[in-house]
Amino acid sequence: MSVNQVQPKLIIHGGAGGHIKSAAGEAKVRQALHSVVEEVYDLLSYGGSAVDAVVMGCQLLENQPTFNAGTGSVLQSDGQIRMSAALMDGFRQRFSGIINVSRVRHPIELAKFLQGESDRVISDCGTGELLRELHVPVYDPLIEIRLQEWIQERDENFDKEMAGVVAEQALIHEPRKGTIGVVALDCNGKIAAGTSTGGKGLERIGRVSDSAMPAGNYADASAGVSCTGIGEDIMDECLAAKIVIRVTDGMSLGEAMQKSMIESRSRKRDLGAIAIAADGTISWGKTSEVILAAYHDGQKIGDTLNWNNQDLVGCQLGSK
Ligand code: GLY
Repeated sequence: MSVNQVQPKLIIHGGAGGHIKSAAGEAKVRQALHSVVEEVYDLLSYGGSAVDAVVMGCQLLENQPTFNAGTGSVLQSDGQIRMSAALMDGFRQRFSGIINVSRVRHPIELAKFLQGESDRVISDCGTGELLRELHVPVYDPLIEIRLQEWIQERDENFDKEMAGVVAEQALIHEPRKGTIGVVALDCNGKIAAGTSTGGKGLERIGRVSDSAMPAGNYADASAGVSCTGIGEDIMDECLAAKIVIRVTDGMSLGEAMQKSMIESRSRKRDLGAIAIAADGTISWGKTSEVILAAYHDGQKIGDTLNWNNQDLVGCQLGSK
């Protein structure tokens, strides 16, 4: 590393919700998260940009059927999959997003394409037009376990409010919401954040997720945040943008995360967030029981799977 370069940092998540039921389930989620962290951190350590690292991390997580994004996405109330994703380049402070897109392998790639466009958030029928325009091959992200989950819900008259956080009913106790997200700080000190989701699952047609809004995914030069949890709770808190702006205005990332999570808990929100600040601090927070996150601090890979359930916020202080 040259004197002007900073130590890259990376954090990813695969959703938030109830605790993992079994040691085998925990091992499976840990393996999935750690393999993505390892691959993406390699890119950052060879000088890759934060934006490229975030896109790559989101693609790898979208490929994992365990998580609710890309392949393995949940079904909406009408039995269709509609996915949403956003990318924010913190250095340029530029947001782009795709809302309720179907039949595509990597929603995050569309968000990346839109970074260069004058119309940067595209929804619903516009997403189909965009896929045709870009000649993106048709892809069906449906997996059997998600179909069975939906069929069971239909048989039970859609009693549940939403689908499981991971596509393994045995893995999570009291399964709930899911999303994937990546935040990176590159060796030039630039930050980016990306988030991708199949939504809550079983939702009304046309419902819009927080993941493709600045409430759920936001970054500037001082910090980047990706959220997970119930989209409506995240929107009500405007969580990602709030944490970032608190850091921009002078709070440490740890304090900004702590204050935002205390406020969220006092309003009974069900959510989580991962974040990195320009000083190299990595942080995560949640009001739900667990957040499925893993990080690389430049020395080692860590994760939050055995993290004390009582704590709202965890932090790895940065030294750049
Ligand atoms: N946070 C994902 C969603 O609610 O759609």
